Amino acid sequence: MTDTLTFLGLESSCDDTAAAIVRLTDGKPEILSSVVAGQTDLHAAFGGVVPEIAARAHAEKLDLCVEEALEEAGLGLDALDGIAVTAGPGLIGGVMSGVMCAKGLAAGAGLPLVGVNHLAGHALTPRLTDGLAFPYLMLLVSGGHCQFLIAKGPEDFSRLGGTIDDAPGEAFDKAAKLMALPQPGGPSVEAEARKGDPKAFAFPRPLLDRPGCDMSFSGLKTALLRARDQVVAEHGGLPRQIRADLCAGFQQAIADVLIEKSRRALAEYLKLAPANPGFAVAGGVAANQAIRAGLEAVSREMGADFVAPPLKLCTDNAAMIAWAGIERFRSGAQDGMDLTARPRWPLDRSAAPLLGSGKKGAKA
Ligand code: KG4
Ligand code: ZN
Repeated sequence: MTDTLTFLGLESSCDDTAAAIVRLTDGKPEILSSVVAGQTDLHAAFGGVVPEIAARAHAEKLDLCVEEALEEAGLGLDALDGIAVTAGPGLIGGVMSGVMCAKGLAAGAGLPLVGVNHLAGHALTPRLTDGLAFPYLMLLVSGGHCQFLIAKGPEDFSRLGGTIDDAPGEAFDKAAKLMALPQPGGPSVEAEARKGDPKAFAFPRPLLDRPGCDMSFSGLKTALLRARDQVVAEHGGLPRQIRADLCAGFQQAIADVLIEKSRRALAEYLKLAPANPGFAVAGGVAANQAIRAGLEAVSREMGADFVAPPLKLCTDNAAMIAWAGIERFRSGAQDGMDLTARPRWPLDRSAAPLLGSGKKGAKA
């Protein structure tokens, strides 16, 4: 007899409204549909995500995304075994929209409800895409997140360190603004950096002189601002080649910090003596070729398999939420109608809270 579990997942913790259906058949997961409706246009004029606008847009779009996900999968609600929803951390209005929608669907269709930690969704993705076995090391690196986690089970994570201020994607976005380059900043700074000399300007490598895996990126942005202002004062503007050099130096500084801290996190993780060591990355910043190549190299150097899920599953999506819901459900977890939306929800409750709050809401 085949053993299957089919879950609908909902995601609305930031500026993407998403619904997806994932099916597990005899231990093998498959994404039957994954719908993501972004809100970039709605927030473009404000230079960041406006929580109230995001929440209203989620409330409007969730039903449509669910319908589309069911249609794409060719399934009705009656074919589902459960509903998983991001219950935090994130912008509270958006998380509430998702939780209310999921509760309505679960109550209406008589299905189990499973609340999912958004960060667990990212952290469990390498199991959905590559069947990575626990324990593995994970680096979440995006516009809202930056942390090293050891994933030991669906709800068992140890945080080795994270950013104490900005996330790297946020730093790239701010850098693009300073360099008058288009948003999102990561891809435009990367394209500019390709034409520049990373050694032309000396940027700091924050916290590299301190032990541990914590990181800081906000000082880099200030260093870039100062360097730019000095160039403008000297040249009466920002010459093209110098702009490329500034971008190259800035990107290299972020890459160096992420690579060295990954080396330390890997050393810490390898002390657990995992049978098949694995190092996985997720988040939009993992798209950066210089950073990705550096992380892959350090992984090889330390004897771990490098796993980078396809980009559309590295960035915010609901397939990861459906999958994390299946993982929780299989381990016996389920939530009731008292499930609440949580703005903060650290994956590792024993770790000291990280400081700071990014443009995309509170850091967990
Ligand atoms: O994971 P993501 O789509 O959303 C969240 O932040 O949750 O990540 C988006 C972030 C943005 O800050 C964007 O500038 C950054 O990832 N990013 C990049 C690149 N592509 C996207 N950063 C550096 N290099 C890139 N190629
Ligand atoms: Zn995310």
